[in-house]
Amino acid sequence: MKRKVTKAVFPVAGLGTRFLPATKSIPKEIMTLVDRPLIQYAIDEARAAGIKEFIFVTSRGKGALEDYFDHAPELEGSLRKKGKKDLLNALKSTNMDSGAIAYIRQHKALGLGHAVWCARRLIANEPFAVILPDDVIAAEQSCLQQMVEAYADTGGCMVAAMEVPPEKAPSYGVLDVRDDMGSLVSVNGMVEKPKMEEAPSNLAVIGRYILTPNVLQNLNKIKQGAGGEIQLTDAIAREIEDGRDVFGYRFRGQRYDCGSKAGYLQATVAFGLSRPELRDEFGAYLDEMVSLRQAAE
Ligand code: G1P
Repeated sequence: MKRKVTKAVFPVAGLGTRFLPATKSIPKEIMTLVDRPLIQYAIDEARAAGIKEFIFVTSRGKGALEDYFDHAPELEGSLRKKGKKDLLNALKSTNMDSGAIAYIRQHKALGLGHAVWCARRLIANEPFAVILPDDVIAAEQSCLQQMVEAYADTGGCMVAAMEVPPEKAPSYGVLDVRDDMGSLVSVNGMVEKPKMEEAPSNLAVIGRYILTPNVLQNLNKIKQGAGGEIQLTDAIAREIEDGRDVFGYRFRGQRYDCGSKAGYLQATVAFGLSRPELRDEFGAYLDEMVSLRQAAE
């Protein structure tokens, strides 16, 4: 029987330089979509997939992220006194069980693979998930939950996958597809940030992974890859070379690249419009903006 996936690693050590000056004093994972920080979307997705242990790989200057997950008894007390039930519930929904969260420091920015490797002792010998909070995925069923269900049949390693235009391939890990079975593809190889002409397909890796502990061993062995960094993609590709299964999973949902300004703004609009209490007013404003733009053209 395959083991259940109950641990997830959240690499949150990045400096977020693309969002300077905002990220001078706040971690980018605390930036909000409507009223929830990016990290909360990642946590909710993981919880829906049955994750019980949350491992954050952090770095200097991420204190606000650790504070975010603390209980806030004074704030809760004051909301309770004032009878603000909705706000109290919203606040409580962010509470995590004692002992469910661990923080590990990545002392040097040596790449995503290195960040995941930093969590190896906490993961020990079980399959685990990795969630990159920059990739926010709006879906009816959480993306990681979809993957956990597919993984129950496949085992091996699994990465979320999505078709991208050829000119975007150099921004991603790209899959060399062996067998395309629809939502699931078996993978022959993986290349991190290939040149457009060298991309083996237009199926890109999106920031959700289910990995076997072998990948942690591989991370011990591999050398620096694309961009001079220790790449998670290379450690997963090693699995294929060693004859073990790696799958890509075409998830159902809309992915927003909140590591870029344009993607972050798109997500803000989409999540704003999905809120019943904002839909009418915000939607009307967007319509007005579009008409004004058209009139100006
Ligand atoms: C990382 C991974 C890459 C993946 C991407 C998805 O790259 O290394 O394989 O395609 O996330 O967002 P990054 O965006 O951190 O450069």
